[in-house]
Amino acid sequence: MKTIIKNGKVITAGDTIFQDILIEDGIIKALGKNFSEEGCEVIDAEGTYILPGGIDPHTHLEMPFGGTVSSDDFYTGHKAAAFGGTTCHIDFALQTKGDSLTNGIRTWKEKAKDKAAIDYSFHIAVTDPTEETIEEIPAIVKEGVTSLKVFLAYKGVFQVDDTAFMQTMTKAAENGMLTMVHAENGDAIALKTKELLEEGKTDMKYHSEAHCEAIEAEAINRAVSFVEITKAPLYIVHIASGNGVEAVRKGRRKGLPVMGETCIQYLYITDDALDQPGFEGAKYICSPPPKKEEDKKAIWEGLTDKTIQTMATDHCPFWFDGTKEGRTPGKELGKGSWDKVPNGVPGIEDRYPLLWDGAVNTGIITPNRFVELTSTNPAKIFGLYPKKGTIAVGSDADIVIFDPEKKHTIEASTHHMNVDYNLYEGMTVTGWPQKVMVRGKLLVDGDDWLGEAGFGEFVARKTENEIL
Ligand code: URP
Ligand code: ZN
Ligand code: ZN
Repeated sequence: MKTIIKNGKVITAGDTIFQDILIEDGIIKALGKNFSEEGCEVIDAEGTYILPGGIDPHTHLEMPFGGTVSSDDFYTGHKAAAFGGTTCHIDFALQTKGDSLTNGIRTWKEKAKDKAAIDYSFHIAVTDPTEETIEEIPAIVKEGVTSLKVFLAYKGVFQVDDTAFMQTMTKAAENGMLTMVHAENGDAIALKTKELLEEGKTDMKYHSEAHCEAIEAEAINRAVSFVEITKAPLYIVHIASGNGVEAVRKGRRKGLPVMGETCIQYLYITDDALDQPGFEGAKYICSPPPKKEEDKKAIWEGLTDKTIQTMATDHCPFWFDGTKEGRTPGKELGKGSWDKVPNGVPGIEDRYPLLWDGAVNTGIITPNRFVELTSTNPAKIFGLYPKKGTIAVGSDADIVIFDPEKKHTIEASTHHMNVDYNLYEGMTVTGWPQKVMVRGKLLVDGDDWLGEAGFGEFVARKTENEIL
């Protein structure tokens, strides 16, 4: 099976070149001009940009959390991702307390394998950092997993202490693996929550107070200090605070191996969204929550000065009204008080076009930097490159044929995510994926879905030692 994509402008992190792409058996076989078209399916991409498929390094599909489960599974979430230009993602498998990391990974592999429509991999969240767990870390490479996450928040659920955090980082680094951290101070959140509830402060906006800027910034500063202490590399997920960005910047300037991720919602939304009449604010409850205008500005600056390496979603959708037939319980669980609202927001379909519209169309970043943030850097950081994350000979043909002129209005009624609201409802963006392929198979063609459950493959990743 051979395909030629011709007449498009190919944009990678490094180059912008008019060249045609020859795809054979799912792999990019050649880049150039004037390929023989005999026996090939030919796609004329005149007037479009050809971009590497998006890689979302931070998602939570079908994740048990907050007394329920996130509403997108590995099929609905993958279909939505593909419509939005994302062809691969790395989801979080969870260790069950008392059980091994390996079993956590295997449980998530089982959930995904028959449903997957795009390619995927896993990080493993360390929730029970016993001596045995720390010793097990090198063994997870056999499962194709080379990154671990610890939570400094969610006290009594996922939170680990500083000793466990440093032990995890150190063991991971010794074995060429990467540690990731959810950096908010869980003890401070628990204390604040108790105080706020005692004062009868149950409105949605108090989630922002319980997760204030200093609570995130403290944990990020601490995490950066631990990089200095342990010398182990660290990737800080979903940065939402200006002082958090600054802590990463300072660490990087010192030459520390610290990397930063932000998520699309923090570029567009502030804490005003949680401060709305009634229950509306629950739609925006996630941790860390979006903060002030100045934090938003600082995150944009972090993107342009390269303090931040990746753009993710932290896609973790919950129904706004989960009481309807066929739905899992959702945000309504928190109708009495903000602290009972499941934490998480949808975004897997929105990330790629929203960043293009807000950052490339406005001239804030170049198309090449867009590719770097949404695809190449996630691939390089997490050991998927060059199989994924670029358009090069030998790489998987994970390709977005992107129409830079197409206007699209984002609406929950037309999006493909399995959730009844969209954070960007009514927003019109310019630039939308026209065709999306994974390993040469066309999954999205305009409004048509050609994908199928079971096509998506688990991608085993490499350790730093194997890459070098
Ligand atoms: O609110 C969020 N972010 N939910 C998903 C879990 C996490 O903390 O990443
Ligand atoms: Zn988190
Ligand atoms: Zn997350």
